Amino acid sequence: MSFKIGIIGLGYVGLPLAALFAEKYPVIGFDIDSRKIKSLQNGIDPNQLSDQHQLTNPNLHFGNEIHDLEDCTHLIITIPTDIDAQNKPDLGPLKKATEMVGGILKKGMTIVFESTVYPGLTEEICIPILEQKSGLIWKKDFFVGYSPERINPGDHKRPVASILKIVAGDTPATLTDLSNVYGAVITAGIYEAPSIKIAEAAKVIENAQRDLNIAFVNELALIFDRMGIDTREVLKAAGTKCRL
Ligand SMILES: NC(=O)c1ccc[n+]([C@@H]2O[C@H](COP(=O)([O-])OP(=O)(O)OC[C@H]3O[C@@H](n4cnc5c(N)ncnc54)[C@H](O)[C@@H]3O)[C@@H](O)[C@H]2O)c1
Repeated sequence: MSFKIGIIGLGYVGLPLAALFAEKYPVIGFDIDSRKIKSLQNGIDPNQLSDQHQLTNPNLHFGNEIHDLEDCTHLIITIPTDIDAQNKPDLGPLKKATEMVGGILKKGMTIVFESTVYPGLTEEICIPILEQKSGLIWKKDFFVGYSPERINPGDHKRPVASILKIVAGDTPATLTDLSNVYGAVITAGIYEAPSIKIAEAAKVIENAQRDLNIAFVNELALIFDRMGIDTREVLKAAGTKCRL
C-alpha cells in the first residue's frame, strides 16, 4: 500500500516532521497561516529550522486548503496546546483543527496526534469530535494514534530523526502500521507504547521533569551567586558523576 501523509500545523514540530516524512512519502503540509504557507511555498521557513533544500523537495507540498488533505492515508496533528490566562489548557486550536479533520475524514484513514496533551485527551475529547464531524465510527472506519514530539526547543544538534520516537495506537494493527510509517524515517528507532494514554502521560512527565531540572538549577545559580561560587564550574564538576 502506498502512503500519503498530511501534517496539520507547520510550526516548530510540524514543519521539520513534514520535511522528514517527505524523504520517504508524498507529504502535504497544511496551516491556517496563509503568510506562512506562501513563505514555505517559496522555500523559506519563517522559523529557520528547515533549509531551502528540504522545503523544495518535490515530494513536499504546502497549502491552506483543508480539502487538499482528503486523499491522505495518515493525518498528523501538530497544533499548539498552550495555557490560558488562568493557567488552564487552551484546547481551542486543537479542537478546531480536529473539527477540520473530522470534516474531511475518509474510511481507512489514520489520525495521529503529536501535540502535548494531558493523559486521556485524545480519547475523551478528540475522537468524539472526529466521530461527530465525520459520521464515521472509530476503530471500524478510521483509526487513531498518538506520538509525542520529544525535540528540545533550541537543540539543533538532535533533530527529530535522531530521537527515539514513542508511538501508540488504538488497536494492535494501528500500532504496527504507525511503527512502520514512522520507522521508515526515524533513524533512532521506535518505542511501541501499550496505549495512547500511556504515551500521553510519558510525554507529560518528560516535560515536568525538564521544568523541575530548570527550576532547580536556577535556584542553585541564585544561591551560588550569593556565595561567590561559579555555577558553571560547579555543574562541570558535578557532571563528572555521569562518567563514573
Ligand atoms: N516547540 C517544541 O520544541 C515542542 C517540542 C515538543 C512538543 N511540542 C508540542 O507540539 C505542539 C505544537 O507545538 P509547536 O511548537 O510546533 O507550535 P507552533 O506554535 O510553533 O506552531 C503551530 C502551528 O499550527 C498552526 N495552526 C494553529 N491552528 C491551526 C489549525 N486549526 N489548522 C492548521 N494549523 C493551525 C499555527 O499557524 C502554527 O503555524 C504543542 O502541543 C507543543 O506543546 C513542541
